[in-house]
Formats: sequence, C-alpha cells, structure tokens
Amino acid sequence: MKKVRLTLDEGAQISFEQGDITMQTTDAIVNAANSSLTAGGGVDGAIHLAGGPAILEECRKIVARSGHLPPGEAIQTSGGELHAAFVIHTVGPVWEDGLHGESGILANAYRNSLRLADRLNLRSIAFPAISTGVYGYPVDAAATVAVRTVIDELSQARSIREVHFVLFSPETLAEFIQAAKNEQRRRNATHWSFATIETN
Ligand code: APR
Repeated sequence: MKKVRLTLDEGAQISFEQGDITMQTTDAIVNAANSSLTAGGGVDGAIHLAGGPAILEECRKIVARSGHLPPGEAIQTSGGELHAAFVIHTVGPVWEDGLHGESGILANAYRNSLRLADRLNLRSIAFPAISTGVYGYPVDAAATVAVRTVIDELSQARSIREVHFVLFSPETLAEFIQAAKNEQRRRNATHWSFATIETN
C-alpha cells in the first residue's frame, strides 16, 4: 500500500491513504454520522462496531441532553475500544444538486471537527470522505472542499499538526491526492512537498 504525505508551511502534515479508519492510531478519528447520532451503516457502522457500545451510549446521552446534531456541527465522545482516544462525530450534507448550501455545510463539518480537536489539545486526527457514501456527494467536489478547508484550518490550529485522510477506495484516494495537487497549483505553494511512502 502507498501513502502520500504532504508537508505544508509550518511542518504541518496531511497524509492520504487507502484503508479502514477504525485502525487509525491518531488521537481522534472523525465519524460521518447522522443528526440523531444513531449508529448507521458505512463508516458510522464500522466505528460503532469496532469501538463497542460505550460510544453509542455516550451519543444517546448527548442527544438526550442537547438534541440532534445539526449538519456541519461536531461533538466528541470517547474512542471506546478503538486505538483513538476520541471519536469526533460530525454530520455532512445530503447531496441534492449542489445548489442547497452543500459545500458550505461540508466545509463546516471539517472545520468544526478540526476546531474541536484543537480545543481538546489533540495533535493528530483522521477523516473519512464525509458525505461521499450514503449522502451522495460527488467525490471530486467533496475532495476539493475537504482538502481546502483542512489546509486553511491547519494554518490557524494551535495543537493539531497531523491530518490523515483515510479513504476506502483507490478511486477516492486518487481524487483526494488530485485535489491536494490542484490546491498547491491554485495557491502557487511551491514550497509544499509531496512524498510517497510505501507501507507494508
Ligand atoms: N473507513 C474509512 N472510510 C469508510 C469506511 C471505513 N471503515 N467505511 C465506509 N467508508 C467510506 C465510504 O466508502 C465513503 O467514501 O466513507 C465515506 C462516507 O460514506 P458513509 O459512511 O456512507 O457516510 P456519508 O455519506 O456521510 O453518509 C452518512 O450514512 O451510515 C450512515 O449514519 C450515517 O446516516 C449517516 C450517513
């Protein structure tokens, strides 16, 4: 398997890899949840399955206390039995036609997840491709929003230094790497460096 690592201005790094996010050893992993924080399918189902029932119990308490989580917002639970200490649950937009504020909501989901992780003093966080499964967001457009928002936020972050994008399919991985290269060109950021790392 290969992993692509992008090093930005102040030593902050973004990596892109194919895989299962539940295996990540980052301080937090992000869940593409639904507003009622009930365990669904896709990455949500995989996280609850691997993390055990404690995560769902915490989700129930949060919804009982604060109500549904609106799209674009983020909250945290413990990581249960996962390697990650925290799961950050966020809700992406359901894709309609791109004219219903989808990109703004998707950017908020990444931004609010990162800001929450930063407030928790975490150093590393892993994201799936939010909204690109059941919620139907086109992968190329989602990759552009995800990469752009994460790069903007990393320049403001106090403690987060490492963001991993963990993508399920090779096609999604390729779209995210392409989005990062497009972003480098768009910003004329010639000092950014890409490295390809072979993992087992
Ligand atoms: N690790 C990483 N990525 C994964 C994993 C995994 N274990 N499982 C699925 N994915 C990928 C999918 O291939 C897709 O690219 O995560 C991306 C997001 O897909 P979904 O999980 O369907 O999330 P989303 O499109 O945001 O839809 C959210 O689905 O499961 C329900 O409760 C959830 O209602 C909510 C909706």
